[in-house]
Amino acid sequence: MKVAVIGNGGREHAIIKKIKENSKVSKIYAIPGNGGLSKDAECVNIGALETEKIIEFVKNENIEFVVVAQDDPLVKGTVDELEKIGVPSFGPNKAAAIIEGSKVFSKNLMKKYNIPTAAYEVFQDKESALEYLETAPMPTVIKADGLALGKGVIIANNKEEAQKAVLDMMENKVFGESGSNVVIEEFLEGYEVTVLAFTDGKVVKPMVSSSDHKRALDNDEGLNTGGMGTIAPNPFYSKELAGECMEKIFIPTINAMKMENRTFKGCLYFGLMITKNGPKVIEYNCRFGDPEAQVVLPLLETDLLDIMTAIYNEKLEEIDVKFKEKSACCVIMASGGYPVSYEKGYEITLPEKLDSEIFFAGTKIENDKIYTNGGRVLGVTAIGDNLKEAIENSYKDVEKIHFTNVHYRKDIGKKYI
Ligand code: AMP
Ligand code: GLY
Repeated sequence: MKVAVIGNGGREHAIIKKIKENSKVSKIYAIPGNGGLSKDAECVNIGALETEKIIEFVKNENIEFVVVAQDDPLVKGTVDELEKIGVPSFGPNKAAAIIEGSKVFSKNLMKKYNIPTAAYEVFQDKESALEYLETAPMPTVIKADGLALGKGVIIANNKEEAQKAVLDMMENKVFGESGSNVVIEEFLEGYEVTVLAFTDGKVVKPMVSSSDHKRALDNDEGLNTGGMGTIAPNPFYSKELAGECMEKIFIPTINAMKMENRTFKGCLYFGLMITKNGPKVIEYNCRFGDPEAQVVLPLLETDLLDIMTAIYNEKLEEIDVKFKEKSACCVIMASGGYPVSYEKGYEITLPEKLDSEIFFAGTKIENDKIYTNGGRVLGVTAIGDNLKEAIENSYKDVEKIHFTNVHYRKDIGKKYI
């Protein structure tokens, strides 16, 4: 069976490695992938948003299953185009991907179906947003409606910061059309947990919980990034809490999407804040998280392609989705200066043998040598019997990997032990 995975980061590498475990798979393409992962998949020089070229390629190569892993091709409707040519795929169609593509949509959905989330208001012009801020409680949270490379959320500590965020989004258009509408919402306090869940629109099967570390520097200081490291499972996410989330959030969300004629099939990402008044949704994403996938998928015992195929056929009910009773830690090795400005093109030296799994992201390959080619360069994931062991194992291997100007956080997972 020939499979293609659309996307270019560490998440895609984690998906590719897992799919490779299926003996029916004869070949995997990454569209476009990145140099470092080319040992595991053939990288195709087509951008993730070049839908027409992707469709041609899938037809010409007789690809039998496509995983659309990245947010923007999902929101753009790549799954719908694959459906038109009769090629099965994994991921929500355009109508369902709006759950990530529009924060106004997702907030209104939660309100309509009583799914717990932060209180909010939607604004379509800057005047009314600014007027609202005159009396809004601080801190407050300003969110651009559309996709913004994970940067469209500003936590404002005071009125001036909030006004600046509104003007940046609505007047200066720093996120383009994504900021034409904004959501201003209540600041929630608590601890954050991510739960990725498989769903075929009928049943929902949550994966082990995880937690990202979004800030660039130790002790959660510095700028927000795409994610500097993850752990799974999150030890604070108890069985009771999981039960509560299932009943109040996961099942109601799947049913709400069905009611709206937007049946969601694929991996739904629940970003949760566990507050003293119970769990609340901070955000939905329509795909695996990056780098959440890099800790959750290595713990998955059930065959990933079997799960994905079952979801396509709306038969997820028949699959027993199992995870190892272990912990995982992923440390991201980045280019110094990320997420602002950084140099690239440095050779990455890797030891012959590592106990951890390496998931390549911002890399390229030339004459069999791997070079840095982006902000987040690679992720090092280790498994352990418990979280402490997973963290130690991961850092042991991080220290054996070298490139000029490397930057990584030294405290991934520390606050959870
Ligand atoms: P997002 O880009 O939607 O993942 O949001 C980025 C981060 O902003 C989240 O991981 C939270 O840490 C934080 N955040 C978003 N919404 C809220 C909120 N209502 N209250 C507190 N923190 C929030
Ligand atoms: N790690 C956060 C995300 O994938 O959106």
